[in-house]
Amino acid sequence: MTNKFENIVQEIDEKYKAINQKTEAHLEGLLWAKPITYWDYIQTDALLNLQVQRTTLPDENVFIMYHQVNEILFKMILWEINQLSHTEKPTTTFFTERLMRISRYFDMLTTSFDIMGDGMEVEQYMKFRHTLTPASGFQSAQYRMIEFSSTDLINLIDYRFRATIDRNTPYTHAFEHLYWQAAGKDHTTGEKSYLLLEFERKYKDEFLRYMEEYNTINLWRKFKQLPEEDQKNTELIAAMRHYDKTVNITWVMGHLNAARKYIGDGDATGGSDWKKYMHPKHQRRIFFPELWTDEELKTWGENL
Ligand code: HEM
Repeated sequence: MTNKFENIVQEIDEKYKAINQKTEAHLEGLLWAKPITYWDYIQTDALLNLQVQRTTLPDENVFIMYHQVNEILFKMILWEINQLSHTEKPTTTFFTERLMRISRYFDMLTTSFDIMGDGMEVEQYMKFRHTLTPASGFQSAQYRMIEFSSTDLINLIDYRFRATIDRNTPYTHAFEHLYWQAAGKDHTTGEKSYLLLEFERKYKDEFLRYMEEYNTINLWRKFKQLPEEDQKNTELIAAMRHYDKTVNITWVMGHLNAARKYIGDGDATGGSDWKKYMHPKHQRRIFFPELWTDEELKTWGENL
């Protein structure tokens, strides 16, 4: 027996002894274990059975699959943010590498949005969309979690209420003034739509926990923990600005243009006043305002 082999067996033995397990039993298990296949490992059968149409129109499947791809990418983004945020004192190299991973995933979302914009027949969309009412991508919880974990809460508060909210405001109060509440409220009566009520019924508790968790460890806070010198690093600042712009302008515009193409002057499935609500110049959602000049902040999302 080679040295390498003996070393591995010894390490395995130590591993199981440490948890009071019989190494022989585990080795015997290995003897009978089924070799892994691609399809078992990647769970392709489960994955490819998740596309369930509500209509007979083929393009509805494009719509479902692309949304699912988006949710997987959202999960990849949250996976990286979670690790970075929970690293006590990330080095600048680690921070930059993880930020680039997150950014690459969001770049995929923006550069692929044509799959929605150009990839479905308008006539088909106009038919199958009715079966989706009153659901909307607005109800994507992971999208909101990416926001909560990217920036300080104040940057997600509706512009009109920012002056009334600070770090001592209870989370439940801040929640009621998040920018996206505007999409789910009748602005004359303040009454919440079914879209928003259902969304909150399912996720509000989780969101409040998440808001609190990321209050001190969101991406912006982690950036501020880097050595002062590194916070001035032009490449790192460019990467932060790129992420901010990609999420809050490029993606938003790709999404808005798709809505304009399909819905035109019509009503959205979620029922929001979408033409006003969705434009970045109205939302003015900016993750890292300190990294933009006054002029850039003032003209955010304009001329698009
Ligand atoms: C043809 C394709 C699409 C159209 C026409 C469309 C349309 C809309 C509209 C009109 C809204 C406003 C809320 C409402 O429904 O009243 C909205 C919100 C939203 N949609 Fe889409 N959408 C499309 C594709 C997508 C995709 C692929 C995603 C990815 C998950 C997505 C995610 C979202 C999110 C996160 C919001 C909330 C945005 C915010 O609060 O600023 N949408 N969408």
